[in-house]
Amino acid sequence: MLANTVALVTGAGSGIGRAVALAYGREGAKVVVSDLNEASGKETMSLLQEAGVDGCFVRADVSEPDDCQRLTDAALSQYGQLNIACNNAGIARSSSPTAQTDLDCWRQVIDVNLSGVFYCLRAQIPAMLRHGSGSIVNIASILGSVGQAGVAPYVASKHGVVGLTQAASLDYAAQGIRVNAVGPGFIETPLIAHRLQDEPTRRDLISRHPIGRLGQAEEVAELVVWLSSPKASFVTGSYYPIDGGYLSR
Ligand code: NAI
Repeated sequence: MLANTVALVTGAGSGIGRAVALAYGREGAKVVVSDLNEASGKETMSLLQEAGVDGCFVRADVSEPDDCQRLTDAALSQYGQLNIACNNAGIARSSSPTAQTDLDCWRQVIDVNLSGVFYCLRAQIPAMLRHGSGSIVNIASILGSVGQAGVAPYVASKHGVVGLTQAASLDYAAQGIRVNAVGPGFIETPLIAHRLQDEPTRRDLISRHPIGRLGQAEEVAELVVWLSSPKASFVTGSYYPIDGGYLSR
């Protein structure tokens, strides 16, 4: 589905990002794997190599605009083009009511989850315009369309990702670049692993998903691959929940 394309994934050292990188590779893309964490990013790269996928690893902190530019430049210098990007890197921080939110926590979460996506778009879009086409998938969350108590920075950052996706899609729809967002429900990854260790919390999280279980990173990757591919050629500016029914309650 993605033969002859070059695809970039941020936060690809773990969870959803790793699953997306592997799925892109399986579908024939060359994969630029990026993460802040060099060891885990290189681990993803090894998995791709074992599967016979052409790719490279670039360490980048998405909260640094220069890193995001350097990442896109690396894709261009290695492969001469950038066709697909999945802006996935994100963090979650422990809960507190809005008025008690620590300022550093607010800034960190907004810097990585929202500004990070903006910095990536700012670098990726000009590279895609050179070819007259491209597809970008930003990883938001179910908390990009509803709230949750105790996590105001995260909820605000993910609503921001959805709005940013819509704005960017309008700016470039006529120039062949599609920009979409995905909103996962709770997915079993290292991001929420600490919460799943507590059995009552695990049961509570599962109960919010009518389908009766949490999601898997590979399930999210399937949707990302489809949105990234020419099969979704008429889809832009959309927000796709993938949440086991969470938002339908
Ligand atoms: P994860 O914690 O397993 O992986 C996140 C990756 O991002 C890690 O490899 C980490 O090193 C990297 N990262 C963190 N800060 C970074 C930075 N400043 N620059 C570059 N890389 C950085 O998390 P998971 O679950 O795979 O999450 C991926 C995305 O999915 C995030 O945006 C998250 O908010 C979103 N998401 C996750 C859900 C879940 O339940 N796991 C639910 C909804 C959305």
